Amino acid sequence: MKKDLLKMADLSAEEIYELLDLAAKLKYETRHGIEHHILKGQSLGMIFQKSSTRTRVSFETGIYQLGGQALFLSPRDLQIGRGEPLEDTARVLSRYLDGIMIRTFAQKEVEDLAKYCSIPIINGLTDYCHPCQILADLLTVREFKGGFDGLKMCYIGDGNNMANSLIVGGLTVGMRVAIACPNAYQPDPEVLAFTEKYPGKFLMTEDILEAAAGADVLFTDVWASMGQEEEAAERQKVFAGYQINQSVIDVAHKDVMVQHCLPAHRGEEITAEVFEAHADEIFEEAENRLHAQKAVMVKLMAK
Ligand code: CP
Ligand code: NVA
Repeated sequence: MKKDLLKMADLSAEEIYELLDLAAKLKYETRHGIEHHILKGQSLGMIFQKSSTRTRVSFETGIYQLGGQALFLSPRDLQIGRGEPLEDTARVLSRYLDGIMIRTFAQKEVEDLAKYCSIPIINGLTDYCHPCQILADLLTVREFKGGFDGLKMCYIGDGNNMANSLIVGGLTVGMRVAIACPNAYQPDPEVLAFTEKYPGKFLMTEDILEAAAGADVLFTDVWASMGQEEEAAERQKVFAGYQINQSVIDVAHKDVMVQHCLPAHRGEEITAEVFEAHADEIFEEAENRLHAQKAVMVKLMAK
């Protein structure tokens, strides 16, 4: 594996399978009270420029379960908030910590941090992507479906960080991927270029029923992501109809599973009925953040 996990495209199919296998093993051990202090004495710095429930708590608990500790680093408290250059902060933190998880806006900030740090950097969400989430999603799909071969994944909604990472992750492990999004809200051009390596496996449409037809897994995400609060009213209009509801379930495979990275807005991107009918799958997905990220930390940080 590379030094860092900055985006899904950093991982080959084999590396994803290795991470999922390790995550499954760590999940089993965690649930059976088997200790695994693989990162004993190590420290993970966690930099958050945006809110978080799952990412913060699962990384903090995860490193603790691995025998290490987490430091929550608020940019408001770090000198970086007062203008200390990223390249200096990176070189200093590399001398104290064993790894850094960062959640921020620009992907470039994460890439720059990785460039100047000698320790592993883990992307905990940027405007561009959300690789840790997709590893948890793939783990959940594999648990419920037994594998990826021949499966069709469908994502309905904004061509955002989740869409970008799901497309790359889904195609890499061999699924067919269909995206329904408004034309003006398509995934990143770099991700669309990536799909060209998978002819016949990728579909993008404005028609949610076309995308969902026969799907084995349905994904959606919020209409307005963190940092887009001012666009929320406009997005309510544009995305009306980009919703996982009973009509979508009706055209999907009869055993379709539903995934949502959370937080969810019932009545917007998903109906309350569909959400509750698939709550077991969605909360397993949330739990799997813990196990997938522990696997990432072990692979990147174990000495
Ligand atoms: N899905 C996810 O990343 O959740 P948080 O924003 O709560 O971390
Ligand atoms: N697209 C959402 C995902 C949150 C986990 C956001 O960026 O806010």
